Amino acid sequence: MKSGEVIVSVQDLYKSFGPKKVHQGVSFDVHDGEILALFGGSGTGKSVVLRSMIGLEKPDSGKIMFEGRDIARLGEDDLIDIRRKIGYVFQNGALFDSMSVEDNLAYPLIEHTKLTKEQIHARIGEMLDLIGMKGSEKLLPASLSGGMQKRVGAARAIILEPKVILYDEPTAGLDPYNTHRLLELMKKIQGRGTKNAAIFVTHDIPAAFEVADRIAILYLGKIHTIDTTENIKNSKDPFVRSFISGEENR
Ligand SMILES: Nc1ncnc2c1ncn2[C@@H]1O[C@H](COP(=O)(O)OP(=O)(O)O)[C@@H](O)[C@H]1O
Ligand SMILES: [Mg+2]
Repeated sequence: MKSGEVIVSVQDLYKSFGPKKVHQGVSFDVHDGEILALFGGSGTGKSVVLRSMIGLEKPDSGKIMFEGRDIARLGEDDLIDIRRKIGYVFQNGALFDSMSVEDNLAYPLIEHTKLTKEQIHARIGEMLDLIGMKGSEKLLPASLSGGMQKRVGAARAIILEPKVILYDEPTAGLDPYNTHRLLELMKKIQGRGTKNAAIFVTHDIPAAFEVADRIAILYLGKIHTIDTTENIKNSKDPFVRSFISGEENR
């Protein structure tokens, strides 16, 4: 297990939408260098956790500590800085439909950096290499396969070299081959020198077993279990067993 320093500390989050209680004391830490998989049935609040980590949702109470600040209490100006440092890979890739692959990737660099045209071009070249899509610069998202769109979405989320990457069901809807490519990309990103951490929300238990260092299970508004992937795989706990065999994971 990797046991780096704590990068993000999620502390006792509560969140309701009207009468619906979603989070009822969610707490976990993300450590430097790790991929933490987050499991939970559909509608248990996994996306709301990720969205809260970049300030797109406000918890009713609780803290999300990152670099000495509580993300849950920041205003929009400070959140711009947070969103450079915490990248979000949306489920569908969330590309701009009318922009080419190249322009999609250039967008965060133009918005957030003072890089020159040449530097931006070089950066995009590196990213396309990383995702195995050299030569796709001029293509529009609609002409890409689902797997390619997700890889470009991942590239866009990491192009500013965020400290933390949040993956929201990145393999959903992908066939086994494209799932494999995306998981390989996640591992490659994680191993790229810059120290970083990731949270990988997924229903895909074999995928999590392949890439995650630790696994957390969100159940009834709380983190029911959090442990190393090895311990989760070998757990004798009946809840964990039924969860990873798929019975609870709906
Ligand atoms: N903006 C919102 N307004 C009202 N209800 C919401 C909102 N966002 C999420 N919810 C509800 O919160 C629960 C958790 O949502 P979500 O985090 O998207 O679940 P999942 O674990 O499937 O990602 C769901 O019941 C969802 O309907
Ligand atoms: Mg979700």
